[in-house]
Amino acid sequence: MRILRHDGRFPPTATSLVHQVGKCILIIFRALCQSQHNCLVFFHAREDSTFRAMDTTPAFPSLLVVRHPLVQHKLTILRDRSTPTKIFKELVDEIAMLMAYEATSELSLEETPVETPLERGTGWRVSGKKLTLVPILRAGLGMVEGVLRLVPGARVGHIGLYRDHDTLEPVDYYFKIPGDVSEREFLILDPMLATGGSAAAAVASLKRAGASRIRFLCIVAAPEGVRRLAGSHPDVTIYCASLDRELNAQGYILPGLGDAGDRLFGTR
Ligand code: PRP
Ligand code: URA
Repeated sequence: MRILRHDGRFPPTATSLVHQVGKCILIIFRALCQSQHNCLVFFHAREDSTFRAMDTTPAFPSLLVVRHPLVQHKLTILRDRSTPTKIFKELVDEIAMLMAYEATSELSLEETPVETPLERGTGWRVSGKKLTLVPILRAGLGMVEGVLRLVPGARVGHIGLYRDHDTLEPVDYYFKIPGDVSEREFLILDPMLATGGSAAAAVASLKRAGASRIRFLCIVAAPEGVRRLAGSHPDVTIYCASLDRELNAQGYILPGLGDAGDRLFGTR
């Protein structure tokens, strides 16, 4: 039995409960956390920022906002118009790695024997086929290496999509993913979720290929995009570092960070 508040961490499965209970002063409940231990979770409405790792928004139940201080710090530098391409690229990579830690927190485990230098013991390993990362070209490419640093065995597929400048609708030009699709977990990577057209199209093409376990990892999301993606694919958990205010008339996220692909690759 552990008291999670003292860990500075909160199980993602419990975050929705925080919103349901709203302003209660003290809540105690039991949760089955990732480590398979029964946990007692104590929290106070005014203290939740001390242990909040991910947050939910009642309007978007499938959205999780990663609140980690390092993610928020790096995101602010990423937004800054004066951040040069080299630093921008490094930050996207680092934020992707930190967010992937949260986005993989519910991967299932299986027991495995382990020989320590002293004796034979039991450990855990991630079960099933290798996780598959699917960056949406181009900007999603900037997130791949960061996630691979955490999950080096992951496979990498690619989906090529670009937004038509006039209609803002996605145009697809490439699709390549590993086999055994129905047995794999997929993590789609794209820094920007704007109208949601590209994300919804990427999920639809993975589903057409037979995928059913799909998560979407972006850095900045607009409410319009979350609404579209969650509306067409409510089974897909969406992770972002920030839910921004809105889209402008050209489909750019406000305040956003500009054109992620151009800032990553120095095209403009
Ligand atoms: C950007 C971004 C997303 C898409 C988001 O890509 O990387 O893929 O826009 O917009 P949406 O939610 O309205 O579909 P873009 O189309 O600019 O292509 P690029 O990465 O090749 O620059
Ligand atoms: N694509 C981007 O790169 N940035 C936005 O703000 C919207 C879509």
